[in-house]
Amino acid sequence: AEREAGRERNPADEAAIAEAAELLKAGGTVAFPTETVYGLGADARNTEAVEAIFKAKGRPSDNPLIVHIADRTALGELVTEVPPVAAALMDAYWPGPLTVVLPLRAGVLSTRVTAGLDTVGVRMPDHPVALALLAAAECPVAAPSANRSGRPSPTLAGHVLDDLAGKIGGVLDGGAAGVGLESTVVQVQPDGSVAVLRPGGITAAQLAAVAGEAAVTGVSAAPDFTPPLEAAEALDRPAAPDAAAGGGSPAPRAPGMKYAHYAPRGWLGVVRGSSPASAAKTAAGLLAAARGRGEKTGMLLFEEHLSLYPAGAADCVVSLGPLASPETAARSLYAALRRFDEAGATYILAEACPETGLGSAIMNRLMKAAAGRVIDAE
Ligand code: TXA
Ligand code: MG
Repeated sequence: AEREAGRERNPADEAAIAEAAELLKAGGTVAFPTETVYGLGADARNTEAVEAIFKAKGRPSDNPLIVHIADRTALGELVTEVPPVAAALMDAYWPGPLTVVLPLRAGVLSTRVTAGLDTVGVRMPDHPVALALLAAAECPVAAPSANRSGRPSPTLAGHVLDDLAGKIGGVLDGGAAGVGLESTVVQVQPDGSVAVLRPGGITAAQLAAVAGEAAVTGVSAAPDFTPPLEAAEALDRPAAPDAAAGGGSPAPRAPGMKYAHYAPRGWLGVVRGSSPASAAKTAAGLLAAARGRGEKTGMLLFEEHLSLYPAGAADCVVSLGPLASPETAARSLYAALRRFDEAGATYILAEACPETGLGSAIMNRLMKAAAGRVIDAE
C-alpha cells in the first residue's frame, strides 16, 4: 500500500482508479473523493464532456467550474500569470482546500468550464485517490461538487449516488470526505490583496499567515440577503428572499455564490441568540408550535447545547458535535442536512455558530441552506 498525505490507499483501488481515468480520457464523467467533498469530474478541454457535468447536475451554465490538477507544472498551460502572493499561497496550502482564481490562458480549456470568464479557478486536492486519478487521466479535470444543483454537497459516495445515479459514468468510493466543506476560493487583486470569494477549508487566519492580516478581504461569512425575522414571523414560514435575484445585495464575485444552495427539502431557519439558552428557548417554542400545526420538525444543534432543549424538542434532532470542534461540525454539516430529508422534516431550525476560523465557512453554508432566513432570539 502507498502512503500519501497520511492516508492509506487500498491496492484494490488501483484498478478502479485506472478504469475511472480511462472514462475521463474517453470524455465521460466520474465522481471522485477529495479532501473537501466529492467532485464530479470531466476532461476540462472537452466541451461535450463538460456539458455532461452541467446536465447531470442541472447546473446553471453561467456558474464556472473549478479545474483540478495533480501537479504544479500543469498550471502554466492553463493560466497566463501567477501573482507572487498566489504562488506563496499555493506553496503553503497545495495540495489542499484552496482554489486560486487566475488569468485564463485562451484556447486550452473548453469555454464552458469558465462560463466565458477570462479567469479560471484551479486547485490541487489533498486526497490520494483524487491525485492518482488526476495523474492517470493526464488532463486538467473540471469538477464541481457531485450533487444535484442546489442540494447539499456530497461527503460520501452514497450521497453522490442518491443525487446522480444513472446520470454519470461512475463514482470512486474513497470513504468520508475529510474537511466536509468546499475549498476556499480566492483571487489576488491588482493591489496584491487576497479577496476571499468563497470561505472554505482554508481559514482567513491561514490566508493572513501567508499574505498578511491587512491583505485579506471580503471574508464576510454570511451574505446578508435579508433582515432577521422576529420569532413570531418565523411561525408563518415567510417565503425566502429570492437569493438568485440579488435583492439589492452586491453581486457576489464567485458566480456560484448567488444561487440558493446546500438546501434540505424542508423549510430551514438559522436561530441566533444573545446566549445559547435564549436561542434554545426560542427554537424550542417555534418547534413546538410547528409540530402543533402538523409539521415534521428538525433541529440542528451543537452537542454542548443538547441539554438546553426539552426532551423530544423536535422529531429529528441532529448534533454537529461539540461547538469547540468546528472541524467536526464542518465534516458533519452536509450529511446532517441530508438526514433531515431522510426523516421527512418540513420545518427545521439550526443553531448559529461564531464566525471565526472554520466557523465562517460553516455559517456561510448554513445561511445559504436557509436562503438567508435568520431568526433573532431575544
Ligand atoms: O472543494 C471544492 O472546491 C469542490 C471539490 C469538488 O473540489 N468543488 C466545488 O466546486 O465546490 P463547485 O462548482 O461546487 O463550486 C465552485 C465555486 C463556485 O462558487 C464558482 O462560482 C466559483 O467556485 N468559481 C469557479 N471558477 C471561478 C472563477 N473563474 N471566478 C470566480 N469564481 C469561480
Ligand atoms: Mg457546489
